[in-house]
Amino acid sequence: MKKKNIFVTRQIPEIGLRLLTQSGARVDVNPEDRALTRKELLKGVQGRDAVLCLLTDRIDDEVMAAAGPQCQIFSNCAVGYNNIDLEAAQRRGLRITNTPGVLTDATADFTWALLFAAARRVVESDAFMRTGQWQGWGPLQFLGTNVSGATLGIVGAGRIGENVALKSIGFGMRVLYTHPRKNFVLEKSLRAARVDLDVLLAQSDFISLHVPLTEKTRHLISSREFGLMKPHAILINTARGPVVDENALVKALRENRIAGAALDVYENEPVTAPGLLDLPNVVACPHLASATKEARSRMADIAARNLLAVLNGNEPLHAVV
Ligand code: GLV
Repeated sequence: MKKKNIFVTRQIPEIGLRLLTQSGARVDVNPEDRALTRKELLKGVQGRDAVLCLLTDRIDDEVMAAAGPQCQIFSNCAVGYNNIDLEAAQRRGLRITNTPGVLTDATADFTWALLFAAARRVVESDAFMRTGQWQGWGPLQFLGTNVSGATLGIVGAGRIGENVALKSIGFGMRVLYTHPRKNFVLEKSLRAARVDLDVLLAQSDFISLHVPLTEKTRHLISSREFGLMKPHAILINTARGPVVDENALVKALRENRIAGAALDVYENEPVTAPGLLDLPNVVACPHLASATKEARSRMADIAARNLLAVLNGNEPLHAVV
């Protein structure tokens, strides 16, 4: 039987690569420590039976066509799959898989890291220390805002949003959430209330985004929504950049419409909106909410298992289509 031919678009944790090579398939991995250019991606996928890809790869009809009709699966090493054209995949009978669950805790933990960093001005004051500006303790220095007892607004109470909310338990927060359905876990354990987005925006002190990026959620948070928020509200985004209109965010922060933002994702990664990084009330991280050794290894493991399952004619662990 002809050896299966797998392409991996970028170096991933060893555990995933080992599984792929141990399967006896030919495995080619992008040797560069960067995302492939469009041209490289189109060339790299050619003639493959399976592709393990990442959220930085735009997998559209052109890429699927370039791979060829023998290709069976694009296994995304991420929970999000907005980088993949699902309709085109379905039309072509291609399987698409993702890696949910194993990064929920890491992403939720990081959401709290960002929330606290913004609420207590950790990054700003760290920079102050490092630049030798500290002349001694002062009663009005770097005043932040209380987290304990505040209202937490969870936009999207799926796996990650729910986990973020549950972690608030030690901080005695009132929890509001939006979601297409009631989240019974949150209602029961936190007495959380499901409300309309406008109510959540108007009543929350911390607003944390956990919706997937779809045509419905693109620019879910824009000028009108910033206008509804409390002036001391802090927005946290560990979901997808385009859920927030980034230029409107810069304007809202500049005009002190809201107090701060803590961001892990951006509208046009790796580029950020003009002026965003000049604002002292922004905490900005380079899309690393799932970046723990444990989570990334388990993601690579699941992405490899999804891919091999399909190549072996089995149902993958996590099918998107
Ligand atoms: C990260 O952003 C992911 O979707 O896994």
